[in-house]
Amino acid sequence: MHAEAAPVVARLGLDSAKTLHPRLPALVHSGEFSGTVVDLVVNGVDARFGVDAIGTVPAALTAWTGALEQRSTLIISAGTAGGFARHGANIGDIYLSEGPLVFHDRRIPLAGFEAYGRGSLSCMEAGPLARALGLKLGRFTTGDSLDLCDADAAAIESSGAAVKDMEAAAVAWVAHLLGVPFLGVKAITDLVDGPHPTADQFVLNLDRAVAELADALPRILMELQKADVARR
Ligand code: ADE
Repeated sequence: MHAEAAPVVARLGLDSAKTLHPRLPALVHSGEFSGTVVDLVVNGVDARFGVDAIGTVPAALTAWTGALEQRSTLIISAGTAGGFARHGANIGDIYLSEGPLVFHDRRIPLAGFEAYGRGSLSCMEAGPLARALGLKLGRFTTGDSLDLCDADAAAIESSGAAVKDMEAAAVAWVAHLLGVPFLGVKAITDLVDGPHPTADQFVLNLDRAVAELADALPRILMELQKADVARR
């Protein structure tokens, strides 16, 4: 979402938005941060509905186009997510992904397709990064809904996921296809297992979570650069 990206663009000193592809609403902000070339892509606005394009389909299209166009050597899915009180999450926490990333809403009860539906996508080993920066580490689970139905809740519980979002596993699939390392970085806007409606918490806490994200991403990029992961 534009609201998630704007403070990060400012903090990293990236250029103003350019069109990523003439047929896509996606935008790219490019620049160099502390010796690392950064291309921050956002899905842009859905012209028919006038709202940010969110979810796995725009995320995969944008990531695929951006990574090919910019010849990315590392793909990060950065944004906001829901956390779980039962896993010790607090509003504003920053989580790094711990593989494998799964989908919680792709239910395909046909032989061989259940595992395909879950996805189980790998990501870079982020334990050292999380420890160095004092960030949390957790399993990510992705679906196309902000709310939670019983079937999704059961899938999330059995996967042990601690972070629920709407993009990361789709972007990790793109990284897998391109043979590029993947990292998820998510700021918690709401507690999925808390007493308040997700949408209310999301609206209330978005600015706070995004400020934490804008604070964490430069530190993450510098640490990745030290380990020579993010350089191009
Ligand atoms: N983004 C922020 N909060 C979320 C949630 N609870 N589920 C999916 N995506 C989110």
